Amino acid sequence: MKDQYRELVNQACAVRMNSHSPYSKFRVGAAVLATDGRVFLGTNVENASFGLSNCAERTAIFTAVTAGAREFEAIAVCADGLEPTAPCGACRQVLVEFGLDMVVLIAGQDGADGAIRQTTVRQLVPDAFVTFVDQSQEGS
Ligand code: THU
Repeated sequence: MKDQYRELVNQACAVRMNSHSPYSKFRVGAAVLATDGRVFLGTNVENASFGLSNCAERTAIFTAVTAGAREFEAIAVCADGLEPTAPCGACRQVLVEFGLDMVVLIAGQDGADGAIRQTTVRQLVPDAFVTFVDQSQEGS
């Protein structure tokens, strides 16, 4: 695996420590690598109204998009526990929005020192929903 990907995994593990997860006590960090080389980070942010909680992957992607990044090479996800935890369905659909070929690195809390699964959004979401309203129809 590329050193850059191992570093991305370790960045995800490091930012996981900023997780706000007093309800689940399950910390997750994510680091997304934009094609321009920038890295954006995210953690899960929970709420007393549980349904308002946001996953680490979406926090990272939304932070990137807010900063003007739209094209991504890879995302690393690092959660508590030694076994890699795969992204939830909601986050997978958000990743689909930004590219089926995005590499997804899934790691446990030991980061690059532990087991890392390398996959792609395409593999995580077979037969993905990608259709969008034809924007030329807007306003008609
Ligand atoms: N969580 C993530 O941050 N990413 C995922 O892909 C799965 C779940 C968070 C949401 C919640 O704060 C906690 O993990 C327990 O579900």
